[in-house]
Amino acid sequence: MRKKIVAGNWKMNLSIADGVTLVNTIISTLPSLPQEAHVILCCPFTHLDRVSTSIRETSHAQLHAGAQNCHDKASGAFTGEVSIEMLKEVGVDAVIIGHSERRHYFNEDHDFLKRKTDALVAADMHVLFCCGEPLAVRERNGQNDYVANQLTESLFHLNAQQMKACITIAYEPIWAIGTGVTASTEQAQEMHAHIRSLLSATFGNEVAQEISILYGGSCNAANAAELFACQDVDGGLIGGAALKAESFLPIIEAMC
Ligand code: 13P
Repeated sequence: MRKKIVAGNWKMNLSIADGVTLVNTIISTLPSLPQEAHVILCCPFTHLDRVSTSIRETSHAQLHAGAQNCHDKASGAFTGEVSIEMLKEVGVDAVIIGHSERRHYFNEDHDFLKRKTDALVAADMHVLFCCGEPLAVRERNGQNDYVANQLTESLFHLNAQQMKACITIAYEPIWAIGTGVTASTEQAQEMHAHIRSLLSATFGNEVAQEISILYGGSCNAANAAELFACQDVDGGLIGGAALKAESFLPIIEAMC
Protein backbone atom coordinates (compact mmCIF):
# COMPACT_ATOMS: atom_id res chain seq x y z
CA MET A 1 0.00 0.00 0.00
CA ARG A 2 1.46 3.40 -0.89
CA LYS A 3 2.27 5.88 1.85
CA LYS A 4 -0.03 8.72 2.82
CA ILE A 5 1.95 11.82 3.73
CA VAL A 6 1.15 15.24 5.12
CA ALA A 7 4.24 17.46 5.03
CA GLY A 8 4.43 20.96 6.46
CA ASN A 9 6.66 23.41 4.63
CA TRP A 10 7.37 26.18 7.11
CA LYS A 11 9.32 28.15 4.47
CA MET A 12 11.17 31.10 6.11
CA ASN A 13 8.76 31.43 9.02
CA LEU A 14 8.67 30.98 12.81
CA SER A 15 11.36 31.69 15.38
CA ILE A 16 13.20 28.63 16.71
CA ALA A 17 11.25 28.97 19.98
CA ASP A 18 7.93 29.10 18.12
CA GLY A 19 8.96 26.14 15.95
CA VAL A 20 9.83 24.04 18.99
CA THR A 21 6.52 24.95 20.62
CA LEU A 22 4.71 23.97 17.43
CA VAL A 23 6.43 20.60 17.10
CA ASN A 24 5.82 19.82 20.76
CA THR A 25 2.13 20.68 20.39
CA ILE A 26 1.91 18.49 17.29
CA ILE A 27 3.61 15.62 19.13
CA SER A 28 1.31 15.83 22.13
CA THR A 29 -1.90 16.09 20.08
CA LEU A 30 -1.07 13.90 17.09
CA PRO A 31 -3.89 11.44 16.37
CA SER A 32 -2.88 7.80 16.08
CA LEU A 33 -1.83 7.38 12.48
CA PRO A 34 -2.62 4.43 10.23
CA GLN A 35 0.46 2.33 9.56
CA GLU A 36 1.05 3.77 6.09
CA ALA A 37 0.68 7.44 7.15
CA HIS A 38 3.57 9.83 7.80
CA VAL A 39 3.93 13.47 8.88
CA ILE A 40 7.02 15.44 7.85
CA LEU A 41 7.91 18.86 9.28
CA CYS A 42 10.14 20.76 6.84
CA CYS A 43 11.74 23.53 8.87
CA PRO A 44 14.38 26.19 8.27
CA PHE A 45 17.95 24.82 8.65
CA THR A 46 18.44 26.65 11.95
CA HIS A 47 15.45 24.82 13.51
CA LEU A 48 16.21 21.29 12.37
CA ASP A 49 18.40 20.09 15.23
CA ARG A 50 15.89 21.16 17.88
CA VAL A 51 12.85 19.92 15.96
CA SER A 52 14.36 16.53 15.15
CA THR A 53 15.54 16.14 18.76
CA SER A 54 11.96 16.71 19.97
CA ILE A 55 10.72 14.15 17.44
CA ARG A 56 13.38 11.57 18.33
CA GLU A 57 12.62 11.90 22.04
CA THR A 58 9.08 10.71 21.35
CA SER A 59 10.37 7.80 19.21
CA HIS A 60 7.38 8.41 16.95
CA ALA A 61 8.38 6.45 13.84
CA GLN A 62 5.83 8.14 11.59
CA LEU A 63 6.82 11.72 12.40
CA HIS A 64 9.90 13.10 10.63
CA ALA A 65 12.03 16.22 10.33
CA GLY A 66 12.56 17.43 6.77
CA ALA A 67 14.66 20.14 5.13
CA GLN A 68 13.57 22.59 2.45
CA ASN A 69 16.75 22.43 0.39
CA CYS A 70 20.25 20.94 0.18
CA HIS A 71 23.32 21.16 -2.03
CA ASP A 72 24.33 18.30 -4.30
CA LYS A 73 28.03 18.41 -3.40
CA ALA A 74 29.34 16.62 -0.30
CA SER A 75 31.52 19.53 0.88
CA GLY A 76 33.60 22.44 -0.37
CA ALA A 77 33.59 26.13 -1.15
CA PHE A 78 29.84 26.69 -1.48
CA THR A 79 29.22 29.63 0.83
CA GLY A 80 25.78 29.57 2.38
CA GLU A 81 24.95 26.00 1.39
CA VAL A 82 24.20 22.90 3.47
CA SER A 83 25.18 19.34 2.51
CA ILE A 84 23.12 16.18 2.76
CA GLU A 85 25.48 14.67 5.35
CA MET A 86 25.03 17.78 7.51
CA LEU A 87 21.27 17.29 7.29
CA LYS A 88 21.59 13.62 8.19
CA GLU A 89 23.69 14.59 11.19
CA VAL A 90 20.78 16.59 12.60
CA GLY A 91 18.27 13.82 12.03
CA VAL A 92 16.68 14.87 8.74
CA ASP A 93 14.80 12.09 6.90
CA ALA A 94 13.48 13.99 3.86
CA VAL A 95 14.29 17.02 1.68
CA ILE A 96 12.05 19.16 -0.52
CA ILE A 97 13.54 19.56 -4.00
CA GLY A 98 12.35 21.75 -6.85
CA HIS A 99 9.91 23.93 -4.96
CA SER A 100 8.67 26.66 -7.32
CA GLU A 101 10.06 29.32 -4.96
CA ARG A 102 13.55 27.84 -5.33
CA ARG A 103 13.12 27.48 -9.08
CA HIS A 104 11.90 31.09 -9.38
CA TYR A 105 13.84 33.14 -6.78
CA PHE A 106 17.08 31.15 -6.86
CA ASN A 107 17.09 30.14 -10.52
CA GLU A 108 17.36 26.44 -9.78
CA ASP A 109 17.21 24.73 -13.16
CA HIS A 110 16.35 21.18 -14.24
CA ASP A 111 19.97 20.07 -14.22
CA PHE A 112 20.71 21.33 -10.70
CA LEU A 113 17.56 19.65 -9.42
CA LYS A 114 18.59 16.43 -11.14
CA ARG A 115 21.99 16.54 -9.43
CA LYS A 116 20.40 17.23 -6.04
CA THR A 117 17.99 14.36 -6.58
CA ASP A 118 20.85 12.00 -7.47
CA ALA A 119 22.84 13.02 -4.40
CA LEU A 120 19.83 12.49 -2.13
CA VAL A 121 19.05 9.10 -3.63
CA ALA A 122 22.72 8.06 -3.25
CA ALA A 123 22.47 9.08 0.42
CA ASP A 124 19.26 7.05 0.82
CA MET A 125 17.34 10.17 1.76
CA HIS A 126 13.66 10.69 0.96
CA VAL A 127 12.98 13.28 -1.76
CA LEU A 128 9.82 15.39 -1.88
CA PHE A 129 10.07 16.42 -5.53
CA CYS A 130 7.88 19.43 -6.41
CA CYS A 131 6.39 20.21 -9.80
CA GLY A 132 3.61 22.49 -10.99
CA GLU A 133 2.72 25.02 -13.64
CA PRO A 134 2.32 28.83 -13.54
CA LEU A 135 -1.06 30.44 -14.21
CA ALA A 136 -0.26 31.41 -17.81
CA VAL A 137 0.46 27.77 -18.66
CA ARG A 138 -2.78 26.59 -17.02
CA GLU A 139 -4.70 29.27 -18.94
CA ARG A 140 -3.50 27.86 -22.25
CA ASN A 141 -4.13 24.30 -21.01
CA GLY A 142 -0.44 23.43 -21.21
CA GLN A 143 -0.10 22.04 -17.67
CA ASN A 144 0.25 18.37 -18.59
CA ASP A 145 3.22 18.90 -20.88
CA TYR A 146 4.78 21.41 -18.49
CA VAL A 147 4.72 19.01 -15.55
CA ALA A 148 5.80 16.06 -17.73
CA ASN A 149 8.83 18.08 -18.79
CA GLN A 150 9.78 18.93 -15.19
CA LEU A 151 9.61 15.26 -14.22
CA THR A 152 11.43 14.04 -17.33
CA GLU A 153 14.26 16.55 -16.99
CA SER A 154 15.08 16.03 -13.29
CA LEU A 155 13.55 12.80 -12.04
CA PHE A 156 12.78 10.17 -14.65
CA HIS A 157 16.43 9.23 -15.25
CA LEU A 158 16.30 7.30 -11.94
CA ASN A 159 15.65 3.58 -12.06
CA ALA A 160 12.45 1.96 -10.82
CA GLN A 161 14.02 0.76 -7.59
CA GLN A 162 15.31 4.26 -6.74
CA MET A 163 11.94 5.81 -7.57
CA LYS A 164 10.14 3.36 -5.33
CA ALA A 165 12.58 3.66 -2.45
CA CYS A 166 13.19 7.42 -2.34
CA ILE A 167 10.69 9.52 -4.27
CA THR A 168 7.46 11.28 -3.38
CA ILE A 169 6.08 13.77 -5.91
CA ALA A 170 4.30 16.95 -4.83
CA TYR A 171 2.10 18.65 -7.41
CA GLU A 172 1.94 22.33 -6.50
CA PRO A 173 0.32 24.55 -9.14
CA ILE A 174 2.04 27.92 -8.72
CA TRP A 175 -1.24 29.81 -9.05
CA ALA A 176 -2.51 28.02 -5.93
CA ILE A 177 0.50 28.62 -3.67
CA GLY A 178 -0.24 31.17 -0.97
CA THR A 179 -3.12 32.64 -2.98
CA GLY A 180 -6.13 31.11 -1.25
CA VAL A 181 -7.11 29.69 -4.64
CA THR A 182 -7.04 25.90 -4.35
CA ALA A 183 -7.11 23.53 -7.30
CA SER A 184 -10.54 21.95 -7.56
CA THR A 185 -10.76 18.26 -6.76
CA GLU A 186 -11.23 17.65 -10.52
CA GLN A 187 -8.11 19.65 -11.41
CA ALA A 188 -6.05 17.94 -8.71
CA GLN A 189 -7.24 14.42 -9.57
CA GLU A 190 -6.74 15.00 -13.30
CA MET A 191 -3.12 16.12 -12.81
CA HIS A 192 -2.33 13.41 -10.26
CA ALA A 193 -3.71 10.75 -12.62
CA HIS A 194 -1.61 12.26 -15.41
CA ILE A 195 1.52 12.07 -13.23
CA ARG A 196 0.72 8.47 -12.30
CA SER A 197 0.25 7.57 -15.97
CA LEU A 198 3.67 9.10 -16.74
CA LEU A 199 5.15 7.04 -13.90
CA SER A 200 3.46 3.94 -15.26
CA ALA A 201 4.70 4.53 -18.80
CA THR A 202 8.26 5.08 -17.57
CA PHE A 203 8.64 2.65 -14.67
CA GLY A 204 5.71 0.23 -15.01
CA ASN A 205 2.37 0.11 -13.29
CA GLU A 206 3.56 -1.62 -10.14
CA VAL A 207 6.02 1.19 -9.38
CA ALA A 208 3.48 3.86 -10.36
CA GLN A 209 1.02 2.47 -7.83
CA GLU A 210 3.65 2.63 -5.06
CA ILE A 211 4.70 6.27 -5.43
CA SER A 212 2.85 8.85 -3.34
CA ILE A 213 1.70 12.03 -5.08
CA LEU A 214 0.89 14.94 -2.76
CA TYR A 215 -1.12 18.05 -3.54
CA GLY A 216 0.10 21.50 -2.43
CA GLY A 217 -1.33 25.00 -2.86
CA SER A 218 -3.72 26.64 -0.39
CA CYS A 219 -4.59 23.29 1.11
CA ASN A 220 -6.22 23.85 4.50
CA ALA A 221 -8.42 22.33 7.17
CA ALA A 222 -11.56 23.12 5.15
CA ASN A 223 -10.55 21.53 1.84
CA ALA A 224 -8.03 18.81 2.78
CA ALA A 225 -10.55 15.99 3.25
CA GLU A 226 -12.11 16.35 -0.20
CA LEU A 227 -8.71 16.70 -1.89
CA PHE A 228 -7.30 13.66 -0.07
CA ALA A 229 -10.40 11.64 -1.01
CA CYS A 230 -9.36 11.83 -4.69
CA GLN A 231 -8.08 8.48 -5.90
CA ASP A 232 -4.60 9.67 -6.85
CA VAL A 233 -4.07 12.28 -4.12
CA ASP A 234 -2.01 10.67 -1.35
CA GLY A 235 -1.73 13.61 1.01
CA GLY A 236 -0.53 17.20 0.97
CA LEU A 237 2.41 19.59 1.11
CA ILE A 238 1.15 22.39 3.29
CA GLY A 239 2.51 25.95 3.59
CA GLY A 240 0.58 28.59 5.54
CA ALA A 241 -1.74 26.13 7.30
CA ALA A 242 1.27 24.20 8.65
CA LEU A 243 2.39 27.12 10.82
CA LYS A 244 -0.22 26.62 13.53
CA ALA A 245 -1.18 23.38 15.27
CA GLU A 246 -4.89 24.26 15.09
CA SER A 247 -4.81 24.51 11.30
CA PHE A 248 -2.28 21.70 10.69
CA LEU A 249 -3.74 18.96 12.90
CA PRO A 250 -7.12 18.81 11.09
CA ILE A 251 -5.19 18.32 7.83
CA ILE A 252 -3.33 15.39 9.40
CA GLU A 253 -6.68 14.04 10.60
CA ALA A 254 -8.06 14.35 7.06
CA MET A 255 -5.35 11.91 5.93
CA CYS A 256 -6.19 9.32 8.60
P1 13P B 1 0.43 27.30 0.81
O1 13P B 1 -0.17 26.09 1.51
O2 13P B 1 0.71 28.43 1.76
O3 13P B 1 -0.34 27.69 -0.39
O4 13P B 1 1.89 26.84 0.30
C1 13P B 1 2.00 25.66 -0.40
C2 13P B 1 3.43 25.35 -0.56
O5 13P B 1 4.14 26.05 -1.27
C3 13P B 1 3.97 24.19 0.16
O6 13P B 1 5.23 23.86 -0.29
